[in-house]
Amino acid sequence: MLEQATLSVGGDTYHLPVVDGAEGDRAINVTKLRETTGFITLDEGYYNTGSCRSAITFIDGDQGILRYRGIPIEQLARKSTFVETCWLLIYGELPTREQLRCWSGLFTKYEMIHEGLYKHFDGFPSTGHPMAILSAMINAMSCYEPSLIEMESPATFQIAAARLISKIRTIAAASYKASIGLPIVYPKPHLDYCSNFLHMMFSIPFRDYEPDPDTVAALQLILILHADHEQNCSSSTVRMVASSGANMFASCAAGVCALWGPLHGGANVAVVEMLQHLHDDNVDLNDYIRQVKDKNSTLRLMGFGHRVYKNYDPRASIMKELADNLLGKMRERDPLLEIAKRLEDVALNDPYFVERRLYPNVDFYSGVILRAMGIPVNMFTVIFAMGRLPGWIANWREVNEGGATLYRPRQIYTGGLARDYVPIDERKSA
Ligand code: MLT
Repeated sequence: MLEQATLSVGGDTYHLPVVDGAEGDRAINVTKLRETTGFITLDEGYYNTGSCRSAITFIDGDQGILRYRGIPIEQLARKSTFVETCWLLIYGELPTREQLRCWSGLFTKYEMIHEGLYKHFDGFPSTGHPMAILSAMINAMSCYEPSLIEMESPATFQIAAARLISKIRTIAAASYKASIGLPIVYPKPHLDYCSNFLHMMFSIPFRDYEPDPDTVAALQLILILHADHEQNCSSSTVRMVASSGANMFASCAAGVCALWGPLHGGANVAVVEMLQHLHDDNVDLNDYIRQVKDKNSTLRLMGFGHRVYKNYDPRASIMKELADNLLGKMRERDPLLEIAKRLEDVALNDPYFVERRLYPNVDFYSGVILRAMGIPVNMFTVIFAMGRLPGWIANWREVNEGGATLYRPRQIYTGGLARDYVPIDERKSA
Protein backbone atom coordinates (compact mmCIF):
# COMPACT_ATOMS: atom_id res chain seq x y z
CA MET A 1 0.00 0.00 0.00
CA LEU A 2 1.19 3.52 -0.81
CA GLU A 3 2.34 5.48 2.20
CA GLN A 4 0.01 8.21 3.44
CA ALA A 5 0.41 11.18 5.75
CA THR A 6 -2.26 11.75 8.38
CA LEU A 7 -3.60 15.21 9.11
CA SER A 8 -5.84 15.91 12.07
CA VAL A 9 -7.68 19.19 12.06
CA GLY A 10 -10.96 20.32 13.64
CA GLY A 11 -11.49 16.88 15.13
CA ASP A 12 -11.32 15.16 11.73
CA THR A 13 -8.55 13.01 10.34
CA TYR A 14 -7.53 13.02 6.69
CA HIS A 15 -5.10 10.90 4.74
CA LEU A 16 -2.84 12.51 2.18
CA PRO A 17 -0.71 10.62 -0.35
CA VAL A 18 3.07 10.67 0.08
CA VAL A 19 5.11 11.24 -3.09
CA ASP A 20 8.66 9.88 -3.37
CA GLY A 21 11.31 11.49 -5.55
CA ALA A 22 14.18 9.63 -7.19
CA GLU A 23 16.81 10.74 -4.65
CA GLY A 24 14.95 10.16 -1.40
CA ASP A 25 13.17 13.52 -1.49
CA ARG A 26 9.63 13.21 -0.15
CA ALA A 27 6.47 15.27 -0.37
CA ILE A 28 2.91 15.22 0.88
CA ASN A 29 0.50 15.71 -1.99
CA VAL A 30 -2.03 18.36 -0.97
CA THR A 31 -3.72 18.85 -4.34
CA LYS A 32 -7.04 17.55 -3.03
CA LEU A 33 -6.72 19.04 0.47
CA ARG A 34 -9.11 21.95 -0.07
CA GLU A 35 -11.65 19.79 -1.83
CA THR A 36 -11.78 17.32 1.06
CA THR A 37 -11.10 19.57 4.08
CA GLY A 38 -11.75 23.19 3.08
CA PHE A 39 -8.15 24.08 4.03
CA ILE A 40 -5.43 25.30 1.73
CA THR A 41 -1.74 25.15 2.57
CA LEU A 42 -0.03 28.48 3.18
CA ASP A 43 3.67 28.82 2.46
CA GLU A 44 4.49 32.46 1.77
CA GLY A 45 7.61 32.74 -0.34
CA TYR A 46 7.42 28.99 -1.13
CA TYR A 47 9.91 27.96 1.56
CA ASN A 48 8.63 24.41 1.54
CA THR A 49 6.42 23.98 -1.48
CA GLY A 50 7.15 21.59 -4.31
CA SER A 51 5.55 23.27 -7.32
CA CYS A 52 6.13 20.44 -9.77
CA ARG A 53 7.83 17.11 -10.45
CA SER A 54 10.93 17.66 -12.55
CA ALA A 55 13.62 15.39 -13.96
CA ILE A 56 16.06 18.14 -14.93
CA THR A 57 18.19 19.19 -11.97
CA PHE A 58 18.80 17.72 -8.53
CA ILE A 59 20.03 19.71 -5.54
CA ASP A 60 20.84 18.41 -2.09
CA GLY A 61 21.23 21.67 -0.21
CA ASP A 62 22.47 20.05 3.01
CA GLN A 63 25.25 18.16 1.30
CA GLY A 64 26.03 20.87 -1.28
CA ILE A 65 25.24 18.64 -4.27
CA LEU A 66 24.12 19.85 -7.69
CA ARG A 67 23.52 17.57 -10.67
CA TYR A 68 22.15 18.27 -14.14
CA ARG A 69 20.24 15.22 -15.37
CA GLY A 70 22.12 13.17 -12.80
CA ILE A 71 25.61 14.35 -13.75
CA PRO A 72 27.54 16.19 -10.99
CA ILE A 73 28.21 19.84 -11.74
CA GLU A 74 31.91 19.30 -10.97
CA GLN A 75 32.20 16.79 -13.86
CA LEU A 76 30.33 19.02 -16.29
CA ALA A 77 32.47 21.99 -15.27
CA ARG A 78 35.62 20.01 -15.98
CA LYS A 79 34.62 18.05 -19.06
CA SER A 80 31.66 19.55 -20.89
CA THR A 81 31.00 22.62 -23.02
CA PHE A 82 28.09 25.00 -22.67
CA VAL A 83 26.64 23.88 -26.01
CA GLU A 84 26.74 20.23 -24.93
CA THR A 85 25.29 21.09 -21.49
CA CYS A 86 22.38 22.85 -23.22
CA TRP A 87 21.53 19.62 -25.03
CA LEU A 88 21.88 17.59 -21.86
CA LEU A 89 19.51 19.85 -19.93
CA ILE A 90 16.93 20.08 -22.68
CA TYR A 91 16.97 16.47 -23.89
CA GLY A 92 18.02 14.61 -20.76
CA GLU A 93 21.04 12.74 -22.21
CA LEU A 94 24.52 13.70 -23.31
CA PRO A 95 24.46 14.09 -27.11
CA THR A 96 26.13 11.65 -29.47
CA ARG A 97 28.90 13.09 -31.64
CA GLU A 98 26.43 13.46 -34.53
CA GLN A 99 23.76 15.10 -32.38
CA LEU A 100 26.31 17.56 -31.04
CA ARG A 101 27.56 18.35 -34.54
CA CYS A 102 24.03 19.13 -35.76
CA TRP A 103 23.16 21.05 -32.59
CA SER A 104 26.29 23.26 -32.88
CA GLY A 105 25.52 23.65 -36.59
CA LEU A 106 22.11 25.07 -35.71
CA PHE A 107 23.73 27.60 -33.38
CA THR A 108 25.95 28.79 -36.24
CA LYS A 109 23.08 28.79 -38.72
CA TYR A 110 20.88 30.95 -36.50
CA GLU A 111 23.48 33.27 -34.96
CA MET A 112 22.32 36.35 -36.92
CA ILE A 113 19.26 38.27 -35.88
CA HIS A 114 16.77 39.71 -38.37
CA GLU A 115 17.92 43.12 -39.64
CA GLY A 116 14.55 44.50 -38.59
CA LEU A 117 15.36 43.54 -35.00
CA TYR A 118 18.52 45.65 -35.00
CA LYS A 119 16.35 48.72 -35.57
CA HIS A 120 14.69 48.11 -32.20
CA PHE A 121 17.96 49.01 -30.49
CA ASP A 122 17.58 52.59 -31.78
CA GLY A 123 14.36 52.87 -29.80
CA PHE A 124 16.03 52.32 -26.43
CA PRO A 125 17.80 55.21 -24.68
CA SER A 126 21.48 54.57 -23.98
CA THR A 127 20.59 54.52 -20.28
CA GLY A 128 18.23 51.54 -20.81
CA HIS A 129 19.17 48.57 -18.65
CA PRO A 130 20.44 45.63 -20.76
CA MET A 131 18.06 43.27 -18.92
CA ALA A 132 15.06 45.38 -19.98
CA ILE A 133 16.38 45.38 -23.53
CA LEU A 134 17.07 41.63 -23.45
CA SER A 135 13.60 40.78 -22.27
CA ALA A 136 11.98 43.11 -24.81
CA MET A 137 14.13 41.74 -27.64
CA ILE A 138 13.40 38.10 -26.82
CA ASN A 139 9.70 38.90 -26.98
CA ALA A 140 10.22 40.89 -30.18
CA MET A 141 11.99 37.87 -31.69
CA SER A 142 8.73 35.95 -31.56
CA CYS A 143 7.22 38.51 -33.95
CA TYR A 144 9.90 37.54 -36.48
CA GLU A 145 9.48 33.79 -35.90
CA PRO A 146 5.68 33.30 -36.05
CA SER A 147 6.02 29.76 -37.41
CA LEU A 148 7.93 28.78 -34.24
CA ILE A 149 5.27 29.97 -31.83
CA GLU A 150 3.00 26.95 -32.18
CA MET A 151 5.84 24.41 -32.09
CA GLU A 152 3.86 21.49 -33.29
CA SER A 153 6.73 19.04 -33.86
CA PRO A 154 9.94 18.08 -32.05
CA ALA A 155 11.88 19.45 -35.04
CA THR A 156 10.25 22.88 -34.69
CA PHE A 157 10.93 22.83 -30.96
CA GLN A 158 14.60 22.09 -31.62
CA ILE A 159 14.90 24.92 -34.12
CA ALA A 160 13.18 27.36 -31.76
CA ALA A 161 15.43 26.31 -28.85
CA ALA A 162 18.62 26.55 -30.93
CA ARG A 163 17.57 29.90 -32.39
CA LEU A 164 16.91 31.34 -28.97
CA ILE A 165 20.14 30.08 -27.40
CA SER A 166 22.17 31.17 -30.40
CA LYS A 167 20.60 34.59 -30.81
CA ILE A 168 20.57 35.56 -27.14
CA ARG A 169 24.33 36.21 -27.31
CA THR A 170 23.90 38.31 -30.48
CA ILE A 171 21.17 40.38 -28.80
CA ALA A 172 23.13 40.66 -25.54
CA ALA A 173 26.29 41.90 -27.28
CA ALA A 174 24.30 44.26 -29.54
CA SER A 175 22.54 45.81 -26.54
CA TYR A 176 25.94 46.47 -24.97
CA LYS A 177 27.30 48.07 -28.14
CA ALA A 178 24.18 50.20 -28.49
CA SER A 179 24.50 51.34 -24.86
CA ILE A 180 28.05 52.61 -25.40
CA GLY A 181 27.30 54.11 -28.80
CA LEU A 182 29.54 51.81 -30.83
CA PRO A 183 28.54 50.00 -34.04
CA ILE A 184 26.95 46.61 -33.58
CA VAL A 185 29.29 43.74 -34.49
CA TYR A 186 27.98 40.75 -36.45
CA PRO A 187 28.76 37.17 -35.37
CA LYS A 188 31.48 35.17 -37.09
CA PRO A 189 30.42 31.67 -38.18
CA HIS A 190 33.78 29.98 -37.56
CA LEU A 191 33.91 30.95 -33.90
CA ASP A 192 32.65 28.75 -31.08
CA TYR A 193 29.73 29.90 -28.91
CA CYS A 194 31.72 31.74 -26.25
CA SER A 195 34.41 33.22 -28.53
CA ASN A 196 31.70 34.52 -30.82
CA PHE A 197 29.98 36.32 -27.97
CA LEU A 198 33.26 37.88 -26.81
CA HIS A 199 34.01 38.89 -30.40
CA MET A 200 30.64 40.66 -30.68
CA MET A 201 31.20 42.34 -27.31
CA PHE A 202 34.74 43.55 -27.83
CA SER A 203 35.56 43.81 -31.55
CA ILE A 204 35.33 47.28 -33.05
CA PRO A 205 35.52 48.21 -36.73
CA PHE A 206 38.98 47.44 -38.13
CA ARG A 207 40.11 46.04 -34.79
CA ASP A 208 39.09 42.45 -34.27
CA TYR A 209 39.09 41.13 -30.73
CA GLU A 210 41.36 38.11 -30.48
CA PRO A 211 39.58 35.73 -28.08
CA ASP A 212 41.90 34.92 -25.21
CA PRO A 213 41.68 31.15 -24.41
CA ASP A 214 41.54 31.74 -20.64
CA THR A 215 38.71 34.23 -20.99
CA VAL A 216 36.81 31.93 -23.36
CA ALA A 217 37.25 29.00 -20.95
CA ALA A 218 36.11 31.19 -18.03
CA LEU A 219 32.95 32.24 -19.89
CA GLN A 220 32.25 28.62 -20.82
CA LEU A 221 32.49 27.61 -17.17
CA ILE A 222 30.35 30.51 -15.96
CA LEU A 223 27.61 29.62 -18.44
CA ILE A 224 27.68 25.94 -17.44
CA LEU A 225 27.53 26.78 -13.74
CA HIS A 226 24.50 29.01 -14.27
CA ALA A 227 22.70 26.74 -16.75
CA ASP A 228 20.03 25.46 -14.38
CA HIS A 229 19.17 25.43 -10.72
CA GLU A 230 15.96 23.57 -10.05
CA GLN A 231 12.92 25.70 -9.16
CA ASN A 232 14.69 29.03 -8.71
CA CYS A 233 12.63 32.22 -9.09
CA SER A 234 13.21 32.74 -12.84
CA SER A 235 12.71 29.08 -13.80
CA SER A 236 9.55 28.97 -11.73
CA THR A 237 8.44 32.13 -13.54
CA VAL A 238 9.12 30.48 -16.89
CA ARG A 239 7.08 27.45 -15.79
CA MET A 240 4.27 29.65 -14.51
CA VAL A 241 4.06 31.59 -17.79
CA ALA A 242 4.47 28.40 -19.86
CA SER A 243 1.62 26.78 -17.94
CA SER A 244 -0.79 29.25 -19.51
CA GLY A 245 0.20 27.89 -22.91
CA ALA A 246 2.48 30.89 -23.62
CA ASN A 247 5.18 30.31 -26.23
CA MET A 248 8.85 29.73 -25.43
CA PHE A 249 9.93 33.28 -26.31
CA ALA A 250 7.30 34.92 -24.08
CA SER A 251 8.03 32.52 -21.23
CA CYS A 252 11.80 33.08 -21.39
CA ALA A 253 11.35 36.86 -21.68
CA ALA A 254 9.45 36.64 -18.37
CA GLY A 255 12.34 34.59 -16.96
CA VAL A 256 14.74 37.44 -17.82
CA CYS A 257 12.56 39.89 -15.88
CA ALA A 258 12.49 37.60 -12.83
CA LEU A 259 16.25 37.12 -13.00
CA TRP A 260 16.89 40.86 -13.11
CA GLY A 261 15.98 41.38 -9.44
CA PRO A 262 18.80 41.88 -6.92
CA LEU A 263 17.54 38.98 -4.80
CA HIS A 264 18.03 36.65 -7.77
CA GLY A 265 20.38 37.17 -10.75
CA GLY A 266 21.19 40.76 -9.84
CA ALA A 267 23.00 39.57 -6.73
CA ASN A 268 26.45 39.33 -8.35
CA VAL A 269 26.24 43.06 -9.10
CA ALA A 270 25.42 43.71 -5.44
CA VAL A 271 28.47 41.64 -4.40
CA VAL A 272 30.84 43.64 -6.59
CA GLU A 273 29.33 46.91 -5.33
CA MET A 274 29.87 45.72 -1.75
CA LEU A 275 33.49 44.71 -2.46
CA GLN A 276 34.14 48.00 -4.23
CA HIS A 277 32.78 49.94 -1.25
CA LEU A 278 34.94 47.91 1.17
CA HIS A 279 37.95 48.68 -0.99
CA ASP A 280 37.34 52.35 -1.77
CA ASP A 281 36.44 53.26 1.79
CA ASN A 282 39.13 51.06 3.25
CA VAL A 283 36.57 49.39 5.52
CA ASP A 284 37.84 47.09 8.25
CA LEU A 285 36.39 43.66 7.38
CA ASN A 286 35.92 42.60 11.00
CA ASP A 287 33.96 45.80 11.56
CA TYR A 288 31.88 45.15 8.49
CA ILE A 289 31.03 41.63 9.64
CA ARG A 290 30.19 43.02 13.08
CA GLN A 291 27.72 45.43 11.48
CA VAL A 292 26.21 42.68 9.32
CA LYS A 293 25.50 40.71 12.50
CA ASP A 294 23.97 43.69 14.28
CA LYS A 295 20.21 43.14 14.53
CA ASN A 296 19.57 46.87 14.13
CA SER A 297 21.62 47.20 10.96
CA THR A 298 20.22 46.65 7.45
CA LEU A 299 23.67 45.79 6.12
CA ARG A 300 23.91 42.40 4.43
CA LEU A 301 26.79 40.20 3.48
CA MET A 302 26.01 39.94 -0.23
CA GLY A 303 26.71 36.61 -1.95
CA PHE A 304 26.41 34.67 1.29
CA GLY A 305 23.63 32.24 2.16
CA HIS A 306 21.16 30.51 -0.10
CA ARG A 307 17.56 29.46 0.25
CA VAL A 308 18.42 25.85 -0.60
CA TYR A 309 22.09 25.38 0.27
CA LYS A 310 22.92 25.02 3.94
CA ASN A 311 26.44 24.15 2.92
CA TYR A 312 29.00 25.60 0.50
CA ASP A 313 27.25 26.14 -2.86
CA PRO A 314 29.18 23.69 -5.10
CA ARG A 315 29.21 26.31 -7.85
CA ALA A 316 30.91 28.79 -5.51
CA SER A 317 33.86 26.42 -4.92
CA ILE A 318 34.35 26.07 -8.67
CA MET A 319 34.01 29.84 -9.12
CA LYS A 320 36.58 30.48 -6.41
CA GLU A 321 39.08 28.18 -8.11
CA LEU A 322 38.35 29.84 -11.45
CA ALA A 323 38.81 33.31 -9.93
CA ASP A 324 42.18 32.25 -8.50
CA ASN A 325 43.34 30.75 -11.81
CA LEU A 326 42.10 33.49 -14.09
CA LEU A 327 43.14 36.41 -11.95
CA GLY A 328 46.41 34.71 -11.03
CA LYS A 329 47.42 34.92 -14.71
CA MET A 330 46.76 38.64 -14.91
CA ARG A 331 49.53 41.15 -14.68
CA GLU A 332 47.73 43.23 -12.09
CA ARG A 333 46.16 41.75 -8.99
CA ASP A 334 42.51 42.61 -8.45
CA PRO A 335 42.14 43.95 -4.91
CA LEU A 336 38.46 42.93 -4.94
CA LEU A 337 39.38 39.23 -5.15
CA GLU A 338 41.69 39.61 -2.17
CA ILE A 339 38.92 41.37 -0.22
CA ALA A 340 36.39 38.67 -1.20
CA LYS A 341 38.70 35.91 0.05
CA ARG A 342 39.48 37.71 3.29
CA LEU A 343 35.81 38.44 3.84
CA GLU A 344 34.93 34.80 3.30
CA ASP A 345 37.62 33.85 5.76
CA VAL A 346 36.40 36.25 8.43
CA ALA A 347 32.78 35.12 7.96
CA LEU A 348 33.50 31.39 7.95
CA ASN A 349 35.54 31.68 11.13
CA ASP A 350 32.65 33.39 12.86
CA PRO A 351 30.16 31.12 14.70
CA TYR A 352 27.34 33.49 13.65
CA PHE A 353 27.66 32.41 10.01
CA VAL A 354 28.56 28.82 10.73
CA GLU A 355 25.61 28.28 13.09
CA ARG A 356 23.25 29.81 10.55
CA ARG A 357 24.86 27.76 7.82
CA LEU A 358 25.59 30.81 5.69
CA TYR A 359 28.21 30.03 3.06
CA PRO A 360 29.30 31.75 -0.17
CA ASN A 361 26.88 31.20 -3.03
CA VAL A 362 27.41 31.30 -6.81
CA ASP A 363 27.27 35.10 -6.87
CA PHE A 364 30.10 35.66 -4.41
CA TYR A 365 32.97 35.17 -6.87
CA SER A 366 31.24 35.42 -10.25
CA GLY A 367 31.28 39.23 -10.39
CA VAL A 368 35.01 39.37 -9.71
CA ILE A 369 35.60 36.91 -12.58
CA LEU A 370 33.34 38.79 -14.98
CA ARG A 371 35.14 42.04 -14.13
CA ALA A 372 38.46 40.38 -14.89
CA MET A 373 37.07 39.30 -18.26
CA GLY A 374 36.29 42.93 -19.07
CA ILE A 375 32.51 42.48 -18.79
CA PRO A 376 30.87 45.71 -17.60
CA VAL A 377 28.89 45.47 -14.38
CA ASN A 378 25.51 46.16 -16.01
CA MET A 379 26.05 43.10 -18.23
CA PHE A 380 26.67 40.66 -15.35
CA THR A 381 23.03 39.63 -15.06
CA VAL A 382 22.77 39.36 -18.85
CA ILE A 383 25.54 36.75 -18.77
CA PHE A 384 23.60 34.93 -16.04
CA ALA A 385 20.54 34.99 -18.35
CA MET A 386 22.57 33.57 -21.26
CA GLY A 387 23.68 30.76 -19.00
CA ARG A 388 20.23 30.10 -17.51
CA LEU A 389 18.46 30.01 -20.88
CA PRO A 390 18.85 26.24 -21.50
CA GLY A 391 17.43 25.62 -18.02
CA TRP A 392 14.43 27.80 -18.81
CA ILE A 393 13.91 26.01 -22.12
CA ALA A 394 14.19 22.59 -20.45
CA ASN A 395 11.58 23.69 -17.90
CA TRP A 396 9.34 25.14 -20.61
CA ARG A 397 9.54 21.82 -22.44
CA GLU A 398 8.80 19.79 -19.33
CA VAL A 399 5.67 21.86 -18.63
CA ASN A 400 4.49 21.42 -22.19
CA GLU A 401 5.30 17.74 -22.43
CA GLY A 402 3.26 17.05 -19.34
CA GLY A 403 0.22 18.51 -21.14
CA ALA A 404 0.30 21.93 -19.43
CA THR A 405 -1.86 22.37 -16.34
CA LEU A 406 -2.43 26.03 -15.52
CA TYR A 407 -0.38 27.04 -12.46
CA ARG A 408 -2.85 28.83 -10.23
CA PRO A 409 -1.97 29.20 -6.53
CA ARG A 410 -4.63 30.10 -3.94
CA GLN A 411 -4.38 32.77 -1.23
CA ILE A 412 -5.57 33.67 2.23
CA TYR A 413 -7.55 36.87 1.83
CA THR A 414 -6.66 39.57 4.39
CA GLY A 415 -8.57 42.56 2.97
CA GLY A 416 -11.74 44.35 4.07
CA LEU A 417 -15.06 42.60 4.59
CA ALA A 418 -17.94 42.91 2.13
CA ARG A 419 -19.37 46.44 1.87
CA ASP A 420 -21.45 48.53 -0.51
CA TYR A 421 -20.24 50.84 -3.23
CA VAL A 422 -20.48 54.52 -2.12
CA PRO A 423 -21.28 57.16 -4.80
CA ILE A 424 -18.50 59.80 -5.03
CA ASP A 425 -20.63 62.64 -3.57
CA GLU A 426 -21.38 60.63 -0.46
CA ARG A 427 -17.77 59.70 0.34
CA LYS A 428 -16.22 61.27 3.41
CA SER A 429 -13.02 63.23 2.72
CA ALA A 430 -9.91 61.64 4.20
C1 MLT B 1 20.12 30.35 -8.94
O1 MLT B 1 21.09 29.82 -9.46
O2 MLT B 1 19.06 30.52 -9.55
C2 MLT B 1 20.25 30.92 -7.57
O3 MLT B 1 21.21 30.22 -6.84
C3 MLT B 1 18.96 31.10 -6.84
C4 MLT B 1 18.17 29.88 -6.50
O4 MLT B 1 18.47 28.75 -6.84
O5 MLT B 1 17.14 30.07 -5.81
